[in-house]
Amino acid sequence: MSPPEPLTVTLRAATEDDQDEIVALYRRVAATTGGLARSADEITSGYVMGFLARSLETGIVLVAVEGRGEDGAPPRIVGEIHAWRGPLEVFAHVLGELTVAVLPEAQGRGVGRMLFAELLRIVRESWPDIERVELITRESNARAIALYESLGLQREGRLEGRIRRADGGLEADIPMGWLRTR
Ligand SMILES: CC(C)(COP(=O)(O)OP(=O)(O)OC[C@H]1O[C@@H](n2cnc3c(N)ncnc32)[C@H](O)[C@@H]1OP(=O)(O)O)[C@@H](O)C(=O)NCCC(=O)NCCS
Repeated sequence: MSPPEPLTVTLRAATEDDQDEIVALYRRVAATTGGLARSADEITSGYVMGFLARSLETGIVLVAVEGRGEDGAPPRIVGEIHAWRGPLEVFAHVLGELTVAVLPEAQGRGVGRMLFAELLRIVRESWPDIERVELITRESNARAIALYESLGLQREGRLEGRIRRADGGLEADIPMGWLRTR
């Protein structure tokens, strides 16, 4: 079977007006196991409002939009990535709490790579004070780990037993980071 066609999307900075669509996106993604740490029930408006506000204030938040409405279909958000800087001076050079999510039916068509590559391009070219971008992902999310490694992040350890799986067992969480100097 040939691989799915790349999806044609436009990337843009998110705004507060995207909140409801991002809630819907995260709920859809969280309903499939093995990716996001949160379950669909744990994707609340407050959670999304919180990361959107922090990312708009101190970080980066991008959405991938499919369609321009020419064929009658309204543009829809098929993917999102965000990360922000914490308030402490010692961490001011770190962009963290990074999460990326793509609608299940749009996965495997290049959207996640485009979003993450664009976030790193912005950091490299426009945010010289950011020295480090970091995230944590569960060990079984091999597809996400391979994507992050191909973009220049490195595995930085293994947090044994940090994730409770849906079947009740435990699995490791993998801290990963991109460093401007590495
Ligand atoms: C992880 C995720 C963001 C990746 O986005 P995506 O749009 O599906 O990924 P892409 O199509 O850009 O593919 C990126 C890489 O993933 C891998 N990949 C994609 N689809 C794959 C598949 N069906 N099987 C195996 N590997 C696959 C490939 O290595 C691909 O690399 P390539 O560009 O060299 O082909 C997305 O799948 C997702 O939202 N998953 C659920 C939520 C999640 O896990 N978020 C990350 C939490 S840290």
